[in-house]
Amino acid sequence: MKRETHSIRTNAQEDLEREVIIDIRDLYKSFGKVHVLKGFNMKLYKGENLVVMGKSGSGKSVMIKCLIGLIKPDSGYISVMNNEIKTLNRETLDTLRSDIGFLFQGSALYDSMTVRENLEFPMRRHKKKLGPLTDTTPLVLEALESVGLADAIDLMPAELSGGMKRRVALARTLILQPKIILYDEPTSGLDPITSKEIIELMLRIQAKYGTSSLIITHDVDCARVISDRMILLVDGINYAEGTYEDLITSADPKVEAFFKK
Ligand SMILES: Nc1ncnc2c1ncn2[C@@H]1O[C@H](COP(=O)(O)OP(=O)(O)OP(=O)(O)O)[C@@H](O)[C@H]1O
Ligand SMILES: [Mg+2]
Repeated sequence: MKRETHSIRTNAQEDLEREVIIDIRDLYKSFGKVHVLKGFNMKLYKGENLVVMGKSGSGKSVMIKCLIGLIKPDSGYISVMNNEIKTLNRETLDTLRSDIGFLFQGSALYDSMTVRENLEFPMRRHKKKLGPLTDTTPLVLEALESVGLADAIDLMPAELSGGMKRRVALARTLILQPKIILYDEPTSGLDPITSKEIIELMLRIQAKYGTSSLIITHDVDCARVISDRMILLVDGINYAEGTYEDLITSADPKVEAFFKK
């Protein structure tokens, strides 16, 4: 059997057997004359760690923003857990967002609030999901314990190192018990050892909660360790897909050029 045929069969089989959590088809988005996404496709399956790479300005963050309804695409189909984003009203979108955790590079902690207050913040916004809570402490502590920082509950962000802040931000995404976690550059700005700790934490969280994760990163080591599958975004499309090994050994000139940089 020829390799292409085999690989097409496997994909069709995968679709049938695995639950699709995020489905993006033929996504287009331009800003004026800048055509950023030009027919991007992506599926995230339940429980997997999907890494999306692409050079700076290729549209990775725009894709994530379309996904959570922060940017309106020009055309295309996006569904998250079988909810087509463009058909949702504000309230339904908000409910869906409570199932999605974000760890964005810019999602800094509120400097004037303690660690505990930072974690309580999303709980107030999504009260409906958590139900009536008389005491938030057990949930706050559980989330902090998941990132190994229960002792930091009463500290101020200024008293934390960069790696600790990132872990608190991760705890804050866990507080709503998300089914999906979106990471935009989770290790940027951290030294190699702290980056490794964050990656290990991401893997532990996935094992504990069974979350499905979309990870955008420039960090090739992070991609190697964490990815079940990868997509390379080039020229506005999902140019190449496969495992880390598939992509790193690809003979395609654009894929090779990306990893050689
Ligand atoms: N709100 C906006 N208005 C106009 N142009 C935008 C907007 N958001 C993004 N862009 C443009 O879209 C392109 C893709 O941006 P995006 O932030 O998605 O890149 P990226 O792949 O995430 O890059 P990086 O790796 O540097 O984070 C860039 O040319 C950027 O200038
Ligand atoms: Mg970006």
